[in-house]
Amino acid sequence: MSPETAAVSLGRGGEPGDPLTAPVSLTSTYRFGGRHPYGRDGNDTWEAFEEVLGALEGGRALGFASGLAAASAVIEDLPVGAVVVAPGDAYNGTRRLLADLESRGRLTARLVSVTDTEEVLAASDGADLLWLESPTNPLMGIADLAALCEGGRAAGARVVVDNTFATPLLQQPLDFGADVVIHSVTKLLSGHSDVVMGAVVTPDDDLHGRYVKRRSLHGAIPGPFETWLALRGLRTLPARLERAQRTAAELATRLAAHATVEVVRYPGLSDHPGADLVAKQMKGPGTLMSFDVAGGAEPAEAVCGATRICVPSTSLGGVETQLERRGRWEGEGHLPPGLIRLSIGQEDLEDLWADLDQALRRRA
Ligand SMILES: Cc1ncc(COP(=O)(O)O)c(C=O)c1O
Repeated sequence: MSPETAAVSLGRGGEPGDPLTAPVSLTSTYRFGGRHPYGRDGNDTWEAFEEVLGALEGGRALGFASGLAAASAVIEDLPVGAVVVAPGDAYNGTRRLLADLESRGRLTARLVSVTDTEEVLAASDGADLLWLESPTNPLMGIADLAALCEGGRAAGARVVVDNTFATPLLQQPLDFGADVVIHSVTKLLSGHSDVVMGAVVTPDDDLHGRYVKRRSLHGAIPGPFETWLALRGLRTLPARLERAQRTAAELATRLAAHATVEVVRYPGLSDHPGADLVAKQMKGPGTLMSFDVAGGAEPAEAVCGATRICVPSTSLGGVETQLERRGRWEGEGHLPPGLIRLSIGQEDLEDLWADLDQALRRRA
């Protein structure tokens, strides 16, 4: 079954009289004798969502309360004193989580440049976990997934890939040998800026069982209604992704030629440093990019404040095109001050271009 069909067809009852759409199972507990003991341990709406996402990634999926809850479950499964190798430009929340755990003696983090395969593999020697993100948020760095999954595992590390930016429709890290994939379901998978949710996927039954335990014990469970919304979003992911990606490719080309823009980082541009890897391991360049406004922080903030269609907001992957100057957040000091992250939505290409162009021209 193709991913486009799986996204629509799975996670539905198959018996005569079954509701076509999985119901929102709003219950805190169950009569004894069934599959679920208690609402923190199991829920039918979770299972419908998990069936679809698991099929798309090629493993067994588990819903979590947020992307960071999913990341926390994976990290909390490690022994005390574990060594974690992670990208120095990983998503800000992941870096802050690792720094917080390190400051309390829970683990040691080795931050690396994920685009430098040799550096990552050297750091993975003796590590418990190799955390990968590709493309990275928001510098759009591309990791060599085949080399790093193989090398990381050979070094004895569990390999985890945050697949939020690519989605399983563009990249399936488990096929490259990753042990675990995590998602911020909040983003493209749910796709409508109305849900905070996460997921962990693994083909390994033992790991799956360990993460089920972490979810039950830590209680970082998704709400049934949020899960229902996420599943509804997942149904249209192929169509949303295809349209937004087409728009993104054209906008990236136009932005790269704009007099006020210094650099555009989009995996679909031929001069992207990871273009060869994109061709090798991704089915498309995705819907996200970042670009630097000439002049730095002030003009970039002015651009974000001058758009009328693109929404200045933090997050990505919704039907609305979103932008923000990432340097406005603590912990983003490594980024160029004028860097704007742009997440392309479903609006008309020419409307978006007119909006961005007028905002760029009006910058302070
Ligand atoms: C790449 C990536 N991973 C993880 C997360 C965390 O997800 P959540 O906000 O759902 O906790 C985010 C959020 O922005 C993200 O961009």
